[in-house]
Amino acid sequence: MTEPQDARFRRIVYSSIATARADDETQIDILRQSRANNGLNGISGVLLSDGKRFLQVLEGTPEAIAHVFAQISADPRHAEVRTLNDELDSRRIFSGWTMASMSDKRESDAVRERLQVLLRSAPADIRAEFEDILRTVG
Ligand SMILES: Cc1cc2nc3c(=O)[nH]c(=O)nc-3n(C[C@H](O)[C@H](O)[C@H](O)COP(=O)(O)O)c2cc1C
Repeated sequence: MTEPQDARFRRIVYSSIATARADDETQIDILRQSRANNGLNGISGVLLSDGKRFLQVLEGTPEAIAHVFAQISADPRHAEVRTLNDELDSRRIFSGWTMASMSDKRESDAVRERLQVLLRSAPADIRAEFEDILRTVG
């Protein structure tokens, strides 16, 4: 894979399995915590969940991503954290969102549009995972 010359951002896409049912309250808690921290750490991305599993995109400097991904991987609210893609890019796809979510109806169209940008160049298996979870989240 060729990396952009001015690659400054690292983007990780991972999936995981919720250890307890990720109900609305759990998802809201995670989003609130993510948005507060990510704003301080310059991280952008999106978090999707169908209640049983999570799919998340994290973007930021390589240092910030290494730090947050280590924390997230150790979080007991989910398990089987599996990295689907890990790449460098010169630009963010989710610029402006400290953690976007499809649960916010006002932003779901914009989030969907950004996801299409991500998936355009993604391998077929990753596209299939996102399309599957997007069918259940509306
Ligand atoms: C599915 C999932 C996604 C998460 N995403 C983020 C995130 O984007 N940013 C973040 O700081 N914490 C995220 N967390 C929470 C971290 O695992 C961890 O609890 C948090 O970073 C600790 O923050 P604190 O030191 O402020 O309590 C996520 C947790 C889960 C289960």
